[in-house]
Amino acid sequence: MKILLTGGAGYIGSHTYLALIEAGHIPVILDDFSNSSPKVLERLGRISGQPVLCEQGNVADLPWVQALIQRHAIEAVIHFAAFKAVGESVAQPLKYFDNNLVGMTRLLQAMDATDCRTLVFSSSATVYGDPASVPITEDFPRSHTNPYGHTKLVIEDMLSALQKSNPAWKVAVLRYFNPVGAHPSGLIGEDPLGIPNNLMPFVAQVAVGKRPVLNVFGNDYATPDGTGVRDYIHVQDLAAGHVAALQTLAAKGESFTVNLGTGQGYSVLDVVHAFEKASARKVPVQFAPRREGDVAQCYASTARALALLGWQAKLDLDAMCTDSWRWQSGNPDGYS
Ligand code: UD1
Repeated sequence: MKILLTGGAGYIGSHTYLALIEAGHIPVILDDFSNSSPKVLERLGRISGQPVLCEQGNVADLPWVQALIQRHAIEAVIHFAAFKAVGESVAQPLKYFDNNLVGMTRLLQAMDATDCRTLVFSSSATVYGDPASVPITEDFPRSHTNPYGHTKLVIEDMLSALQKSNPAWKVAVLRYFNPVGAHPSGLIGEDPLGIPNNLMPFVAQVAVGKRPVLNVFGNDYATPDGTGVRDYIHVQDLAAGHVAALQTLAAKGESFTVNLGTGQGYSVLDVVHAFEKASARKVPVQFAPRREGDVAQCYASTARALALLGWQAKLDLDAMCTDSWRWQSGNPDGYS
């Protein structure tokens, strides 16, 4: 299939690009490089051995996106292009409403106008808020604690309204848990701007000597070692999950919502220890107060993903840390 990847130069988009090529699809990247580097394109070309199809522009540019879908005869869209920094969304909600909600609306309009109604959407486990228990199944109640999370929830609702209005829409909503790791080549990986918000890139920058110490946000949670527990998933497994979702949509023709996680929870200290082993470096930590909005535990039930997509994560925490370290140590300043 010919597939448009909005935000395809970003962290998850670039890994999914390669997984799609391996599965015999033809991906076309759409990116405005507002939170990614054009240098990723050369790397993708090097790894895949194929020229990279990329269109530079914004997903909200309706006539341009419409023309692009027609010009490339796009059959399905995977929509990664969105902002995802929680703190920034609290400080600048309009930036998030504009990019995430208006961007999504314009993309859907372009798809509707061109009769291209197959979509894979990047949602997040953030829509579960503070879950009453773990593991989390897809029918758990949804909530939000910040504008970023709210945009994911609103888009999920927009998509279900759209499916009701016209059954020709085939939509896969993928609720990611905590994507980490990098391509085993060490050529592409996560390259956050400024101080990383997320745990794994922060740990990697401490290990490589860019930052002195990791602040562990809270050690008094009701978890085995008191630190927060999350479902870290290797980005290569996540990329494979997108291919499985796309193929399931095409084969069964029915919309669905599914968790993409491993079903296994690890604490902050588990991650630190695994990273120290993978990197053979010490990662100094200090305990700090809890971060606002954090939950004690969050990990997925993976039963629906296995039953529906025939997909499950294969790579363990050691592989996540080893690949993350290969990327970080080979590219201490990311793509710049
Ligand atoms: C975060 C967002 C979530 C978003 C996801 C996107 C919050 C509250 N949640 O998930 O909405 O969908 O990123 O990638 O921001 N930690 C530290 N020190 C650090 C960084 C993190 O101790 O410097 C801890 C956190 O308290 C948490 C764990 O590490 O227990 C994972 O944090 P993080 O990687 O930011 O992911 P989430 O908070 O799960």
